[in-house]
Amino acid sequence: MKQHTYGFNYEVYDDISQLSTADADLLAAARLVTNKAYAPYSKFNVGAAARLENGELLLGTNQENASYPVGICAERVLLGTAATLHPDIPVVAMAISFNTTKEISNHPISPCGMCRQSLLEYETRFHKPIRLIMGGMQGPVYVVESAKQMLPFAFTGEELK
Ligand code: THU
Repeated sequence: MKQHTYGFNYEVYDDISQLSTADADLLAAARLVTNKAYAPYSKFNVGAAARLENGELLLGTNQENASYPVGICAERVLLGTAATLHPDIPVVAMAISFNTTKEISNHPISPCGMCRQSLLEYETRFHKPIRLIMGGMQGPVYVVESAKQMLPFAFTGEELK
């Protein structure tokens, strides 16, 4: 038996002011668009902003449903929009933020497992890592260089060839 360890590096910033202009702009856009979320059930508004390789910014928010499992996360709304509007242009970065009446939004949230799987599909499809910038409306920001890092032992299309 051999013991293996999985780990990955991520960057931690005290707040948005320490980010590069590109990352800060993306996080600011994700924060702003939390206003457009449709989250009457959880009251947990998620905003996501993507930068395409051509510099264009696209936005997404979570869209809930009275039949709870039908709701969709902001990240997957955004990936669907990006892939539909620009099926040939990779997403190179995505910022994710949230706002809620239930607590102060002062820490990062990270994509759920289903969104990680979707992000990985997108990275694989376009052969490009997606830089993830995660932060609340205020406070520390985490940056991960590729969504793939956040899904060890992922199931991929390689198995289906
Ligand atoms: N949600 C997202 O949109 N993205 C995430 O990364 C985590 C969770 C949404 C789903 C649901 O509408 C609400 O947040 C509470 O789970």
